Amino acid sequence: MEKPSARRHPIKNIRAFRSSLLRWFSENAKSHPWRETTDPWAILVSEIMLQQTTVSSVIANRRFERFLEEFPDIEAIAVAPEEKILRAWEGLGYYNRVRNLQKAAQFVLHEFCGNFPSDAATLESLPGIGRYTAGAVSSFAFDRPAPIVDGNIARVLSRLLDQHQAVDSTPGKKAIWQSADKLLDPKNPRLFNSALMELGQTLCTPRSPSCLICPVRDFCKTETPEKLPVKKPRKKIIAVEEHAYLWIQGDKILLSPGHDSRRKGFWKLPLRTADECAHLSPVSKHHYVITNHKVTISLYREKPPHLISGEKYHHLGDLSNLPIATPIRKILATLL
Ligand code: ADE
Repeated sequence: MEKPSARRHPIKNIRAFRSSLLRWFSENAKSHPWRETTDPWAILVSEIMLQQTTVSSVIANRRFERFLEEFPDIEAIAVAPEEKILRAWEGLGYYNRVRNLQKAAQFVLHEFCGNFPSDAATLESLPGIGRYTAGAVSSFAFDRPAPIVDGNIARVLSRLLDQHQAVDSTPGKKAIWQSADKLLDPKNPRLFNSALMELGQTLCTPRSPSCLICPVRDFCKTETPEKLPVKKPRKKIIAVEEHAYLWIQGDKILLSPGHDSRRKGFWKLPLRTADECAHLSPVSKHHYVITNHKVTISLYREKPPHLISGEKYHHLGDLSNLPIATPIRKILATLL
């Protein structure tokens, strides 16, 4: 069935639009641990964590609560060694985010005497905090009228206003942020932003949205919700071949410290070039996907490798306490 066109425009009927959305949210809001608090540190942690991990996985594994048990406030994370913060973030990926979380905590401690700023523009000056996160902390923690646009909200707004510019293009982003700013209820920014996000998570879903039971269907300008949002063409997947040693002596395994920016501080298997391994036969091959790379890793254990600086032996029993990239940990788990 085709979706009928809206009778009312959301901006021209802005009060009615906001009240329909807020009424629905007051009756349907999900309870999330980060909705039980207005502590800006806890809100910041939840927002950074939820940027790369689904709500259900954060909840199922108690990642938010466990992280806050370890780092209950900015003072606790500000002085923590890198190994400890990486360990607390392990499995969540994008480890620069937890490094920035620590830098942001140190920044608030030193530049703002430990008091989080409440306005989005100042929050955006903190390391690793972009426009979305600044708006989320400002509105969720302080109930200040800052708009937010994440993937869910971009989808809701592009449908509501029938916007066909790519939401990940510069002009498309600008238009969506302007709409989020115009529609935001200045009297209820916390509830309004939560409601818009939840509408995207529950009813206004990417495929087969539930338009018939949508609380703002009367205001939704698009007749083709399944075609929105428009996005720029995807980046190609790049195939990468890696060659690594699985070198175990007694109860110790040879590991190499990561150097590239994404994996700094993480131990990995010692990598060698294809040429260096050309005369060896791999004991096994494994595959993993990371961002737009599809990696095939071949493992060798025929001859001892020449050690490269920084590489060292670790007790197998210590592996669970070391920061190790998740795909490599999974491979080790299958082999050891
Ligand atoms: N995803 C990101 N931030 C969220 C929030 N505050 N509530 C629910 N889902 C989210």
